[in-house]
Amino acid sequence: MALFPILGRRSYEVVVAATKTMGIGKDGKLPWRLPSDLKFFKNLTMTTSDPAKKNAVIMGRKTWESIPLQHRPLPGRLNVILTRSESFHIGSMEKNVVISGSMISALKLLASSRYRLSIENVFVIGGGQILRESLNARECDAIHLTEIETDIDCDTFIPAIDVTQFQPWCSSLPIVENGIRYCFTTYVRVRDSTAISKG
Ligand SMILES: NC(=O)c1ccc[n+]([C@@H]2O[C@H](COP(=O)([O-])OP(=O)(O)OC[C@H]3O[C@@H](n4cnc5c(N)ncnc54)[C@H](OP(=O)(O)O)[C@@H]3O)[C@@H](O)[C@H]2O)c1
Repeated sequence: MALFPILGRRSYEVVVAATKTMGIGKDGKLPWRLPSDLKFFKNLTMTTSDPAKKNAVIMGRKTWESIPLQHRPLPGRLNVILTRSESFHIGSMEKNVVISGSMISALKLLASSRYRLSIENVFVIGGGQILRESLNARECDAIHLTEIETDIDCDTFIPAIDVTQFQPWCSSLPIVENGIRYCFTTYVRVRDSTAISKG
């Protein structure tokens, strides 16, 4: 679904799980254990139509640190970590990891000749600080929201989806796991039809 770069930047899709009050985290971790959601996330972010290409996942430094050591970098994907700190380092042997100082520079890097053809889709995967900046931004083409209906205590929140910009495209039937009821809904950007008719 990734569109060609706007102003030399890649567009992206967001993938996130949130409660009705848009809670996404607690104490630096996920406040739930939902195996089917993890499977959905893995399948969505790993799949490419061209087997020679990979996808990229962009995340905040705190989300990177919340991934258990044995599971990071997320395999089969280019992991882009956002940090403003110049002292943040990862092991020099880490493959598939890029550090970027801002969302704009990450999107420009992914549009550059180094990555433009080899990276098929770009997903922004959290956490709260990153999604407060990027959820409703113009480069966002779609939002894959795991909608958690059960009330769960959170300390990290994201904004509501701007329904003047995004409309629901498809939704799964509800699933219940570990006593938590949720479904998968994809929102897509509402395209301005008048822009097309104006040529
Ligand atoms: N439910 C979900 O789907 C989901 C998904 C992901 C994460 N989470 C949860 O969300 C929580 C983490 O979210 P969070 O808000 O605390 O942290 P975060 O957004 O993951 O990371 C924040 C860090 O990212 C860097 N950063 C933020 N904005 C930046 C920018 N514009 N340019 C460059 N760097 C930037 C800064 O790193 P420095 O301090 O190093 O400069 C900042 O401290 C955890 O509880 C996690 O489990 C939930």
